[in-house]
Amino acid sequence: MRVKIVAGNWKMNNDKEETEALIEALKSKGKFTGVQVRIAPTSVNLVQAVNATKDTDIKVSAQNMHYSSSGAFTGEISANMLESIGVNSIILGHSERRAYFNETDADLEKKVAKAIQHDMEVIFCFGEELNDRKENTHFDVVEKQLKAALFSIQPSDWKYIVLAYEPVWAIGTGETASPEQVQEMHAFIRQLIENQFGKIVADNVSILYGGSVKPANAQEIFSKPDVDGGLIGGAALNADDFFAIIQSA
Ligand code: PGA
Repeated sequence: MRVKIVAGNWKMNNDKEETEALIEALKSKGKFTGVQVRIAPTSVNLVQAVNATKDTDIKVSAQNMHYSSSGAFTGEISANMLESIGVNSIILGHSERRAYFNETDADLEKKVAKAIQHDMEVIFCFGEELNDRKENTHFDVVEKQLKAALFSIQPSDWKYIVLAYEPVWAIGTGETASPEQVQEMHAFIRQLIENQFGKIVADNVSILYGGSVKPANAQEIFSKPDVDGGLIGGAALNADDFFAIIQSA
């Protein structure tokens, strides 16, 4: 059966000391039961994060990586580099990467393939913009994003994939998709996966929701049958809030 996951995407926040302090604060909350926890600090703090979370239930994810193994790609990091410091989980396709760093579906298809080659978990983000929802094309947009980056993988590779539906209009805006809107989209996504890869794959893939999740709304969203946890931005920067969200899953 699929697992519940709550992942904190720290984005470009927290220096070395702040990273260590936030991890310590999270660790002091004790064990997490029935839910897996990820934190994704910025790349320069991944080593600290891996060391600080040793012997805990917290797993460290990276926020991005290149699809090449090495070479002249100034500013980029590779799967081998992440692997060598003990990071085997990666967030790919975040809307900020797509919007500000021109990450395309074709890039993402290559990045997903590279991550799978390295036995890395992929937290794959996708979601429509406000205009898409207003024009009622949000299902088409999501279908296109998923098909472009994920439909070329093998059914057996889905064990590496965690999906994170993040409507762009709800990210960092305080505006959350309603639990009904989230459930409707997650059920659509699961059906898409089932049509292409079969029921076992679809039933086992965790589909997270992301976009202004807070302690106050987490429980209602997470209670929906096709919602298997969340990808949390702003609220993951506060240990109390993040822990409260983890406990809601
Ligand atoms: P938010 O970000 O929780 O601050 O809306 C979510 C995300 O970008 O993953």
